[in-house]
Amino acid sequence: MDYEGIGAQALDSIAAAQDLDTVEGLRIALLGKQGSISGLLKTLGAMSPEARQANGPRIHALREGVTAALTARKAVLETAALDARLAGETVDLTLPAPERPRGSVHPVSQVMDELAEIFADLGFAVASGPEIEDDWHNFTALNMPESHPARAMHDTFYLPDLTAEGREMVLRTHTSPVQIRAMLATGGAQPVRIIAPGRVYRSDSDATHTPMFHQVEGLVIGKDITLAHLKWTLETLLKAFFERDDIVLRLRPSYFPFTEPSVEVDTGYSYVDGRRVVGGSGDAPGHSWMELLGSGMVNARVLTAGGYDPDEWQGFAFGVGVDRLAMLKYGMNDLRAFFDGDARWASHYGFSPLDVPTLSAGVGVTA
Ligand code: DAH
Repeated sequence: MDYEGIGAQALDSIAAAQDLDTVEGLRIALLGKQGSISGLLKTLGAMSPEARQANGPRIHALREGVTAALTARKAVLETAALDARLAGETVDLTLPAPERPRGSVHPVSQVMDELAEIFADLGFAVASGPEIEDDWHNFTALNMPESHPARAMHDTFYLPDLTAEGREMVLRTHTSPVQIRAMLATGGAQPVRIIAPGRVYRSDSDATHTPMFHQVEGLVIGKDITLAHLKWTLETLLKAFFERDDIVLRLRPSYFPFTEPSVEVDTGYSYVDGRRVVGGSGDAPGHSWMELLGSGMVNARVLTAGGYDPDEWQGFAFGVGVDRLAMLKYGMNDLRAFFDGDARWASHYGFSPLDVPTLSAGVGVTA
């Protein structure tokens, strides 16, 4: 047998191997259980003692030579692979870091900004008040004395402690107490034109109610303010907000303790592709009315509580749910998802990390 020839051939193919898989394939073919060199070793058993003495060392030398060549070739290829990887992974520190946009403007912030922008064009300032409110501002001053049944309708969260003056503390149930704060801030001597956006709290939770939600309050006080101003303001607001001219409002007589007369404002809408779309008269074919907000002329008692003389001053007020406006404008149907903090939800409804919270270009209010 030409063991040396077999060995030379094996060493040639090992030297020619260009990758680790090929080396491993050769190892199995030569030295594996069924390998050719392993086969040669097995032939020793059948040989005569003399032949075995002559051939044994040659076969073992062949196996050792091949084993050493495989190990050496493997080491060379591993080093080459590592060098190639290191060369490929070089970091160029002069390159700008890739920027990954994350998060987005929340629809509620977006809508609040839109409302502030629309009202700014109408000359309204933005006012604010505390979310932990005393029950005088939240109820009493708004013509809801302690025994008033409307208090019970607010599902109020009460705090365990009283204020220094002994007033009960609540999480404000609406933004209306900011009316009182805004009036008291002027000393009862100047016209008022404010909106007050913010969080409000009620112990209520289902698909359309969350314990925390958002409202925008509006208040205008002057010497000759009428219900007509209220209607024009709300119409102008909703046209600008929904970015369409065919908004039709229906004012329905209602009751709120803080306004007299009180009106609930409905808007016409229809279903387009399964979504409520505001526009048109609610009496038009395929349309209905939907309640949108509460409003009215400020009750004389509320003016008095705010330090204004009701014989001289009058005004209108309104309150509207921001989350509801966002749902209507952007097509969400479950309010609870607003407060899950899931960026996928925001992007599903078209809010991108690059959004700037303003109205789309070209839409404005002409007053
Ligand atoms: N505060 C009322 C509420 O939360 C909403 C409201 C109704 C506010 C009429 C007003 C108003 O200013 O005039 O249900």
